[in-house]
Amino acid sequence: MDCRFRVGVLGRSICFSDRELEVAAIEGMARGYHPFPVAIYGPEGCGKTTLTRYLVHRLGNEGYLAIYLDALTEVPGKALELSPPIPQHVVEDALRSLSVPLSGVIARYAARVAEALWRRVKMRRGVVVVVDDVYRAVGLGAAERYTKALYEWVSRSAPRHGVKNLLVLLTTSEGVSKRLLARHSYVELYMLWNLPEKGFEEFVEQLNPPHSPSDLYTATGGNPRILIEIARHGWDHERVRRMYRDRIRSAIRSLGIPREKLRELARDPDADPETAAKLEELGLMIELMRSSALGEAPNPDPDLGIGTEWAWQTPLFRTAVLEL
Ligand SMILES: Nc1ncnc2c1ncn2[C@@H]1O[C@H](COP(=O)(O)OP(=O)(O)OP(=O)(O)O)[C@@H](O)[C@H]1O
Ligand SMILES: [Mg+2]
Repeated sequence: MDCRFRVGVLGRSICFSDRELEVAAIEGMARGYHPFPVAIYGPEGCGKTTLTRYLVHRLGNEGYLAIYLDALTEVPGKALELSPPIPQHVVEDALRSLSVPLSGVIARYAARVAEALWRRVKMRRGVVVVVDDVYRAVGLGAAERYTKALYEWVSRSAPRHGVKNLLVLLTTSEGVSKRLLARHSYVELYMLWNLPEKGFEEFVEQLNPPHSPSDLYTATGGNPRILIEIARHGWDHERVRRMYRDRIRSAIRSLGIPREKLRELARDPDADPETAAKLEELGLMIELMRSSALGEAPNPDPDLGIGTEWAWQTPLFRTAVLEL
């Protein structure tokens, strides 16, 4: 737990929890020459944004210029976070110097933004650029082109501008983009799973729950967003499950997935990869790609809805499906 980085949850400010393994892995990448953009995918709400914002804060204190771009925010001043902090007039001057329209998705110009900033700021160790939720913003049709262009940029630009190390991190919770990227050698793909039980306990205890952390772990599988949803509804996880059941019902009706197929996957997440892939597109299941886990891959556990190759993004979805 690192209380120097605080996260706003339900009107409280809590300490950043866990993720030591993931932080160590990415710090290792930042230290050496890392020519490939690193794409991180994981369940919705598992903590990708929080982890990357934490990394930016931390690396900014370790001699890097760390740039975080929220691809879904269209106002440049709000989409950009820098560590260490840089005077506002320097940032404005850097953005003005770009020959791009400064409305719309600033993430499209991530490379140019980074170059304009690093020309104005002294950094000892290198540059880290995070583009969060990028594929939803640039569009799936552009996912491969966008990532390839970043790869070309990393291999060309850093040496040319005398930047010692340049690491680009991209995040997505969107299943199709992950599948597109998995085919290519110009990007490294890593999976970030939900919080492990001990880390989840650290997180949840800061919210003074009326239930035991282990019961809440059984309900959420360590997904912090679902936990927050449960807390917001008076810690009534049955109610949240019913809400998801109704949402899932209307989503799967539109795809025409038979109920028996869902039940089969609720019993065994690996039973039907074709249907599991459709459910991945709805943000309900996810392909695990165990060898590419950024921290630890989750152990198979039928009660938590985790198989060998496929898993429910949170057990709450699995139990909701059983009630359909
Ligand atoms: N390590 C952590 N420590 C403390 N709080 C966390 C941590 N990880 C996530 N959270 C909390 O959980 C919430 C959901 O996490 P976050 O938004 O980072 O998930 P995400 O994976 O980026 O979601 P999405 O797939 O929608 O982009 C955050 O708003 C934050 O409050
Ligand atoms: Mg996010």
